[in-house]
Amino acid sequence: MLEKSSIRLPLLVVGLLFVVTTFIALTEAVDSSKFKTCNDLSFCKRNRRVDITDAAQMSLYKHQIVADSVQLKDGRLVGEIVEQDGEVDHVLSFEIRAIANGILRFRVLEKSPLANKKRYQVQDVLLDDINPFQLDVYVAGELAMSANSRGLFHFEHMRNKPLPPQPIPNPNPPEGEEPPAPQQPVVPEGMWEERFQSHHDSKPHGPMSIGMDIKFVGSQHVYGIPEHTTSLALRNTRGEGINENPYRLYNLDVFEYELDKTMALYGAVPLMISHDTKKTVALFWLNAAETFIDVSDSKDDKNVPSKDTHWISETGAMDVFFLTGPTPMEIFKQYASLTGTTALPQLFSLGYHQCRWNYKDENDVKQVDEGFDSNNIPYDVIWLDIEHTDGKRYFTWDKANFPTPDAMQKSIAIKHRKMVTIIDPHIKRDNNYYIHSQATSNNHYVKKADGVSDYEGWCWPGSSSYLDFTNPVVRNWWAEQFAYDKYIGSTPTLYVWNDMNEPSVFDGPEVSMHKDALHHGSVEHRDLHNMYGYYYHMATADGLVKRNSDQNDRPFVLSRAFFAGSQRIGAIWTGDNAAQWSHLKVANPMLLSLGLAGITFSGADVGGFFGNPDGELMARWYQAGAFQPFFRGHAHLDAKRREPWLFGEPYLSVMRSAIQQRYSFLPLWYTIFYQNTLNGAPTMRPLWVEFPSDANLFAVESEYMIGSALLVHPVVEQGQKQVKVILPGDAAKQQWFDIDTNKMYKPGQYDVDTPLQKIPVYQRGGSIVAKKERLRRSSYQMRDDPYTLKVALNTDQVATGELFMDDEHSFNYKKGQYQYRQFRYENGQLTSKSLDTKGTFKPVNTVERIVVLGINNKPSAISYADKPLQFEYDKSLSSVVIRKPDLPISSDWTINFKF
Ligand code: GLC
Repeated sequence: MLEKSSIRLPLLVVGLLFVVTTFIALTEAVDSSKFKTCNDLSFCKRNRRVDITDAAQMSLYKHQIVADSVQLKDGRLVGEIVEQDGEVDHVLSFEIRAIANGILRFRVLEKSPLANKKRYQVQDVLLDDINPFQLDVYVAGELAMSANSRGLFHFEHMRNKPLPPQPIPNPNPPEGEEPPAPQQPVVPEGMWEERFQSHHDSKPHGPMSIGMDIKFVGSQHVYGIPEHTTSLALRNTRGEGINENPYRLYNLDVFEYELDKTMALYGAVPLMISHDTKKTVALFWLNAAETFIDVSDSKDDKNVPSKDTHWISETGAMDVFFLTGPTPMEIFKQYASLTGTTALPQLFSLGYHQCRWNYKDENDVKQVDEGFDSNNIPYDVIWLDIEHTDGKRYFTWDKANFPTPDAMQKSIAIKHRKMVTIIDPHIKRDNNYYIHSQATSNNHYVKKADGVSDYEGWCWPGSSSYLDFTNPVVRNWWAEQFAYDKYIGSTPTLYVWNDMNEPSVFDGPEVSMHKDALHHGSVEHRDLHNMYGYYYHMATADGLVKRNSDQNDRPFVLSRAFFAGSQRIGAIWTGDNAAQWSHLKVANPMLLSLGLAGITFSGADVGGFFGNPDGELMARWYQAGAFQPFFRGHAHLDAKRREPWLFGEPYLSVMRSAIQQRYSFLPLWYTIFYQNTLNGAPTMRPLWVEFPSDANLFAVESEYMIGSALLVHPVVEQGQKQVKVILPGDAAKQQWFDIDTNKMYKPGQYDVDTPLQKIPVYQRGGSIVAKKERLRRSSYQMRDDPYTLKVALNTDQVATGELFMDDEHSFNYKKGQYQYRQFRYENGQLTSKSLDTKGTFKPVNTVERIVVLGINNKPSAISYADKPLQFEYDKSLSSVVIRKPDLPISSDWTINFKF
């Protein structure tokens, strides 16, 4: 399978390489003193040693391959590495394995672990435990990735705590003399305990960090490792004149986060992708502990500019996957083969969501719902935040404000809309609250460091405990709580929002859980911190599946925290942004980075969570949000009401048409989400993914593609009357079409006028997009509507596109109940054919309009089955519009164009 990529690992080389070897005012930004940087953490300082050069660092760590231990065993290269520590040798065992589809796995563990403590190895992320020193990885015969070329490999062996030296007793102490005081143990700082502000970390297992450098040879652009507020192409943290905090992966609830920072946010995916004109490769560092990553410029042996990265984790196994691409699409497939693809969303969840903290009561919900109708704005879901509960006891309702939750949901469901309630993982410590009393008696909570008492912390309900979702028994119990007879007042059209699952602990270190808290199996929180929210999200989604006796409704759960693999569970959003232009702008790189790291069902709060956007910012944010995967308006409790109609004209009309445009493109969104289940490709993707050989695009984040058909350039600056749009591609072949005017553009740079009504979006020549253009109140009501096909030709007069259809809500598509069609225009024929003969779903829709753009000549006739079809030709636009062909969407057909 590894035709294009290979691993070269002569034993000598391997040997040689290891030889050396509570809220404040909006104007205030994040209080960064609350959060740690590398300098506050002894493990990071020990690994990073910014005070010394790489060369000096190399001589710090003495790791050596045991030459005769290296052998090929069952297709794996295995062996031992010895670390010399004074008189003592610590032995590590390593394994390198090539996994079938272009992935190499490198794992290192202690050879003889301590009897009382095992190193944590991440579980439940890889789809299967798949069949998977200088380690050099070659792609197409050229060096692509090199591990440990800078000798930063570091594996702190696990050890027993040194005993304090005993005082030497004097056998004949002179009378009246005090016995000598016991001496304090000489323990290096930070190794066996650590303090941060008022918090103490007992670190009972001492140092056990791991670190390694990886060079991306020939690459000047690396991407991924969300979640940060930096640029799409990751900037350097080290190098000449640069000594910044490394990128940090440690899920945290950061109040009023700042932009362009490498500090940690709510979620973590330790996947980095490197792209250059020749190849795309990636590195997946499977570790759920706190992790830091430095990025710097370097040169390879032949002076070719490259990127150096240095990965450091506090604990856990070293388990590294090298993905060899060599194309962006291959990388997405390879990563998907490890951690899975996006759960196919129900169609409604791709529509518009209306949220705020909080819709006050049932009448408020009714008024907002009616507001959408009276203003002719489609929407699909209305959300309830924490105030809907009885005192922040999740699964309950505030009886005064929400006395009839079933009736409320039904009145929304009659219009084929849904509701979402928030359910957080902190549980109010109230003995009269059934969730708390059952969790206590079942022993379902995370424990304090003593392993006995339930962990307690402060969150929305006051004193709270935290369910141990790492335990499958707890996850099952949690899933059962969503049964209709347990979650009283819930109905089948109620879905769920999981928040605060980093987890957020208001009085904990860095607003999170103590690292020495204990989980199921005595695993320390520090080992799996970044997975806590993932397990929680998983248990909730499972509950939504299990609550229906036929288990046939796809779940929808939005989560704030995430880890590698969260895409299999549901959507995520970028947390508490602000109603500021800069936050609208950063949503692009943040969502693009998430998508590259597998998490493509993601969005940012439209309008900005904190503060009060004016009409212009709202209008621009709706225009951008309409072209981002998860589309939800949300606002803080103290923010002014901001339903679209409260802004008056011209803003209301702009927001309405943005949302309507979103609905018209739902068939495209649904299709690219289905395609993600096949290939793992992000729905919202950087330009370089579609145009991989154009180096000018590698750092572009102001515009992006939706699938491979639409290019979007949102307006993200106040008062911006013009934007510079790049339309990529080969000038001889490519052409683009403005989706509003159908006007054609050749590849190039354009100054495009952007009055408030305009967001520049272009359809790529060579693509066919299926749309639904009739205005309805919700996605469900569009179900049987006819399609419009927009055929955008390239200069060869060719175009293709796909359309996925099913019942839009159940798992039946997995049993073949779907239609996956391909449309193709070529040689004057437009054909529709099934791409998959297994699909048995027969939708009733027809095609009511076909628009062909970029056609070179006027057709003399257009016919279907020898019957002429009416059409109009517009010379100035080179377009043809066929009205009412009324062909069934689910059968094969061919339309002939005669010239
Ligand atoms: C957190 C969430 C925010 C939510 C609030 C109250 O700040 O990020 O979206 O509205 O909690 O639940």
